[in-house]
Amino acid sequence: MVKDAFDYLVQGVYIVSTEFENQLSGLTAAWVMQSSFKPAMLAVSLGPTRRTAELIEKSGKFAIQILDESQRQLAELFGYYSSRNFDKFSKVKWSKSEKLGLPIIEGVLGYFECELEGKFVSGDHFIYNGRIVNHKVFRQNGKPMIFLMRDWF
Ligand SMILES: Cc1cc2nc3c(=O)[nH]c(=O)nc-3n(C[C@H](O)[C@H](O)[C@H](O)COP(=O)(O)O)c2cc1C
Repeated sequence: MVKDAFDYLVQGVYIVSTEFENQLSGLTAAWVMQSSFKPAMLAVSLGPTRRTAELIEKSGKFAIQILDESQRQLAELFGYYSSRNFDKFSKVKWSKSEKLGLPIIEGVLGYFECELEGKFVSGDHFIYNGRIVNHKVFRQNGKPMIFLMRDWF
């Protein structure tokens, strides 16, 4: 089974967030990667049912927030419930990012602010490619959370 091989793929765990006309949405994502160096870009692969993907398409912007290894509870909160019927941001402390006004959760290691540049079909997901317009690191030498499929699904 291909899952046996996917189990050995190492990724990180991130919160992807966006804001559109005062509506907030965010989810946990492991399928995040740097997609260009110059200009600096990031891509995230999202399922079509995600409320966050819907709002990213409307707002044209998103933040990628880097989780610390101790933040599993936060990853579960944002990964197991949909913003469609649950206000995840009411359960956490957050503030607006410096440039694009995106919701950033207190305690993350850092974040990138991205402007959406392209959307690509990838099988049953869509890849959202964004240009990084600002970034912030809150803590040096932090330990980011590592994602292994078998620890979660
Ligand atoms: C550890 C973890 C990693 C995940 N990675 C992704 C991912 O890369 N892409 C994705 O579309 N969903 C991913 N999910 C699922 C979404 O976080 C989940 O469907 C979420 O409830 C969607 O929220 P939304 O509807 O508010 O956008 C992941 C969930 C967990 C727990």
